[in-house]
Amino acid sequence: MLNAWMPDTPSNNILIAGGAGYVGSHTAKRLAAAGFTPVVFDNLSTGHREAVLWGPLIEGDIRDGAALAAAFAEYRPRAVMHFAACIEVGEGERDPQGFWNNNVGGTLSLLSAMRAAGVEVIVFSSTCATYGEPEAIPITEAEKQKPASAYGRTKLAAEMLIGDFARAYGMRCGLLRYFNASGADPEGRIGEEHDPETHLIPNALKAAAGLSGPMRLFGADYDTPDGTCIRDYIHVEDLAEAHLLAVSHLIKGESSLALNLGSGVGCSVRDVLKAVETVTGRPVPHEVLPRRSGDVARLVADPSAAQTLLGFRTARSDIRVIIEDAWRYHSARWLG
Ligand code: UFG
Repeated sequence: MLNAWMPDTPSNNILIAGGAGYVGSHTAKRLAAAGFTPVVFDNLSTGHREAVLWGPLIEGDIRDGAALAAAFAEYRPRAVMHFAACIEVGEGERDPQGFWNNNVGGTLSLLSAMRAAGVEVIVFSSTCATYGEPEAIPITEAEKQKPASAYGRTKLAAEMLIGDFARAYGMRCGLLRYFNASGADPEGRIGEEHDPETHLIPNALKAAAGLSGPMRLFGADYDTPDGTCIRDYIHVEDLAEAHLLAVSHLIKGESSLALNLGSGVGCSVRDVLKAVETVTGRPVPHEVLPRRSGDVARLVADPSAAQTLLGFRTARSDIRVIIEDAWRYHSARWLG
């Protein structure tokens, strides 16, 4: 259903599939600040209507070709950003059919609609999960992609599908492989809202706020200095900036890209818990459990290709800033 928002100058519209979700909504905010009109296309299965604040919302599913065709005809976007996907790794193991249908079938439907409408630019939300267990740290784009989960395989398949469309039909694509998206809008309007929440930082904050039992720490026997897994946390606002740089690059006519987006800094689970305690001034009750299936010891990006090709630099991805922003957002909702 289209809402009453009037289309902007067609050349300024960017269709954001999945723009009511976590990274999509922060990207919509950044695009609007840069003078684009983010047109959100989202089925609201996991996204939030309240997170669509910077442009129109079209409620629809990317597997619905007629709904997409209507959206392209009405808004004539100059580019597409594609965030619409199932993302919970464990759910993908239980429901591969749903993941392949949505993540790959949905991408094919979106690309077909773009092609029919003559839209040439797509920026795709991909993941470091396409690499699986890396052979070298930090991870460059030359790392072999051998995903270890159904989720990662659907994202890699979608990357390949987009690449084939780009090569055959004259499209240009930006495949952005995120490491650990985290943090929230520093102004506190939007943030991370998954149900169920499986991510470390919101779970640690919830335990610190006394709103859950002890946080479950999955595995303290990894081959890392403190025995817990090391990840590369990147602030969602920095990810949004990278999306703006990528889409601007492609709109200018520059070549397709595949880039890792991380801070280049590794933090262990225990480092994160310490930072949560410092920021909140509260202990994080937690219990050590066995390893979670599918977790690897270390995932840290080499962010130099994004720096060289897009001039991308992180600005808020210090772990303390990430947790301050996430805590401001969550504590306002949880504690008033
Ligand atoms: N962890 C806990 N307890 C929790 C949640 C997480 O100990 O309650 C640990 C995990 O075991 C892991 C680390 O914290 O060691 C980070 O876990 P997250 O779930 O926050 O993030 P992941 O690194 O598992 O997931 C991220 C993205 C996924 C992507 C994956 C690729 O969120 O979308 O990287 O490996 F698939």
